[in-house]
Order: sequence, then C-alpha cells, then structure tokens
Amino acid sequence: MKQLPAAQVHGHIGVPGDKSVSHRALLIGALTEGTTRVTRWGRGGDTESTLRVVRQLGVEVVEEDVDTLVVHGVGLRGLRAPDGPLDCGNAGTLARLVSGILAFHDGRFTLTGDESLSGRPMGRVTKPLSEMGARLETETGTLPLTIEGTALTGIEYALPVASAQVKSAVLLAGLGATGTTTVIEPTATRDHTELMLEAAGAKVVRRPGLVSVEAPTRLSLPEVLVPGDISSAAPFLVAAALIPGSSVTVHDLGLNPRRVGLLDVLERMGARVAIFDKRRIAGELIGSVEVSAQPLTATRIEAAEVPTLVDELPLVALLGAFARGTTWVNGAEELRAKESDRIETVTDALRAIGVRIESRPDGWKIRGVPARPRGGKIDAAGDHRIAMLGAIAGLVSSEGVTIQGAESVAISFPGFFDLLESLKQEGVSQ
Ligand code: S3P
Repeated sequence: MKQLPAAQVHGHIGVPGDKSVSHRALLIGALTEGTTRVTRWGRGGDTESTLRVVRQLGVEVVEEDVDTLVVHGVGLRGLRAPDGPLDCGNAGTLARLVSGILAFHDGRFTLTGDESLSGRPMGRVTKPLSEMGARLETETGTLPLTIEGTALTGIEYALPVASAQVKSAVLLAGLGATGTTTVIEPTATRDHTELMLEAAGAKVVRRPGLVSVEAPTRLSLPEVLVPGDISSAAPFLVAAALIPGSSVTVHDLGLNPRRVGLLDVLERMGARVAIFDKRRIAGELIGSVEVSAQPLTATRIEAAEVPTLVDELPLVALLGAFARGTTWVNGAEELRAKESDRIETVTDALRAIGVRIESRPDGWKIRGVPARPRGGKIDAAGDHRIAMLGAIAGLVSSEGVTIQGAESVAISFPGFFDLLESLKQEGVSQ
C-alpha cells in the first residue's frame, strides 16, 4: 500500500490497550482463583496468540466484547497439557513468559512460532529457568522449545541483557518455586509483571535494581483495566512532532515511568509535550498526552534509556532524520533480537526514502535535514513496527511511501491505518 503525505495531523484519539499488559492479564489471570475481568484488552495478532494458547491450556476465556474478556482462572498449578504444540505466532512476549509458567506445571508442552519468532533467542530464558531446575529442550537455542514441568527452586539471577521478558519469565517461574526468586536488573525495564503480581496478592519485594517474588498460596485478580499502549500511540505522537502546525492528543494512555522514554526524547528534541489528567489505576499510571510540532534538534540515546523506549527507537531514527544536527542511538544492540533485526531494517527503510542514516553494531548515526524526504518504497520485513515507521515516513514525505507488507501492523494494532487516516489533513504545502 502507499501512504500519501499529509499537510498536517490533528485530533484527539484513543489507542488499543497496552500489548504488554494485555498478554500479562491473560497469563496471570489464568493462574488465579476466580475470574479476571480485563477491560480495554488490546486485541491484535500477538495478544490473540496468547488468548489461543491459554485456551489450549484449559482456561475458559469469555469474550464479552471485542476488548472485554473474562478469564476463568484455574489456579496456580491448574494449566493442562494440550495434545498438540502451543503456537506462539509472532509473539516473543508470549513465548518467553509462558515458558516460566509452564516450567512448574505437570505435563509436556511444546512451544512453536512463526518464522520470525523461530529465529529469536530463547536461550536467555532457558538458562535461568534451567538453573531453577526446569527441564527444557531446544536444539538451537530457539523455538521449538519443549518443556517438561517439574519442581523448581528459587534463585537469584542477574540478567545479562536488560529484558523485561526474561525478568518476567523468571518471576513467573518463581510463583511455582520453593524459596525466594530474585532478579537483578542492569537497567530498569518495564515492570508490568511485578505490578500485576502485586495486585494479584503475591509477595513482591522491590528495591532499586532488584525484584523478588515468593510462591503465593493463591492469586486473585478480579479486574484489570488496560491502559492505552504508548507504543501504539507513538507513531501518531511522532507524526504530530514532525509536521509543522500539527498537534495530536492521546487520551487514557499508559504512562508507566519505565515506558515513557519517547516523551522525554520528544521534549529534549524540542517538541511541545503536555501531560494532563494523570491518575493511577491498579498500580499503573495513566493520563493524556498532547504533542505539538516545533523545530527539532538532534539528540543522543544511551544504553540506560533504551529499555524505556525500546519499541519506539525506529521512530526516534525518523525524528533524527528531521532534527538539526546528528542524532546518535547507542547501546541498542537488543534491537537486533526483535521481530526483525531492527538496526538493519530501519536503516534499509529510511535509506530507501533518502534519509542519511548509518547502522552501527548497537544503533544508528542519523544526519538530520529539517525538510521532507522525497519518499520511495519501504519493506516492512514482516515487522509491525517497521510497517508503522513506513506509514509515518510516508505522511511526512513529499511524494509518499509504498510499504511492502503493510498488513503486519495487525500484530499489535489492526486499526492503525484507519486511525491515521482520521488525523490527516490532505495536501502538502511545500
Ligand atoms: C516486552 C518487553 C520488550 C519489548 C517487547 C515487549 C514485554 O522486550 O521489546 O515488545 O512485554 O515484556 P525485551 O524485554 O525482551 O526487551
């Protein structure tokens, strides 16, 4: 499909519920006693994989509405081994988190995934889980992964990579382990698992750089109200920052401090960012964010900031393309282990439309030119975040961008293009 340029973007919008919280609501809800009512569940290809997998594991989930689910928990060790493999589709979060849960469940479970997921590292979870006593088999350190549930022992594990998925896999395994399970983080990553486990009644101890959990006797989580996904809002906020005269407000957005790195970067680069209506719901901060365009200046991202905007970094590269000066993204080698090798796919995509970007082992160097790039053709490489990057690049280009594989946006945000269309003011004044 071809994304045509827009003169401006304007409007007030809501975005689907946060993907990370939506996965966790199903997985943790499944382990509770009683029901978990999940409102504003973020429906997309990835979260539907989680829905399918928890059902295969014997959990009843009633879909009251497109984004309201009721999970009938089966208790802490109540999941049942299915006959066939558990297909995790494209969802890395599902594959990593469910491994921790299945490690202490009776039975034999096989996890599979699509081509992209089958190339992503699983050794980062099998290593700590094996240290806890889990029985896991993988031939090449990737999916397919076979798990044979067994008794686990709590460990203290220092994460070698800053990954919320690995941290969460270990903490979830800790729900079925004897003693205390502790994860030490080199850099703070998203803490939705900790917050939700606490809300469900687990004993979670948090100190700077460290989180511990002890196996509870039972969990109970009657309600989860999922905040809007800042990663889904990001393309619209970035478009608003890039096109002179534009302004977009996103309401009921998740503002967990470990997820809002993009807002800090936008502000630092000179965009106007206003946050209002801030409140806390079940441990998660939520609020409204308005971003308006201003001339942008280059910035530097270093490793400590990366986890706060890891999925938004492709869009930061686009911001850098418009900013005065040279933007550096460093310490982001984790991008190579995402749905695509995002260091390379972002470089290829932005180069194809005339951006002066160089890939580096751990990020990019981008020379900004405060003018619309011409446009061209971008390959999404089957990666939803690259497809969305292509769409915003088209919007801010002078001739439009053809996106190969645009349909991959449905992995996290099926209604993405309709919402984008609703914000567009036609015609480009140059
Ligand atoms: C996620 C954590 C991040 C992020 C992914 C979702 C999560 O991955 O990129 O989209 O829900 O925990 P890592 O923690 O592996 O960096």
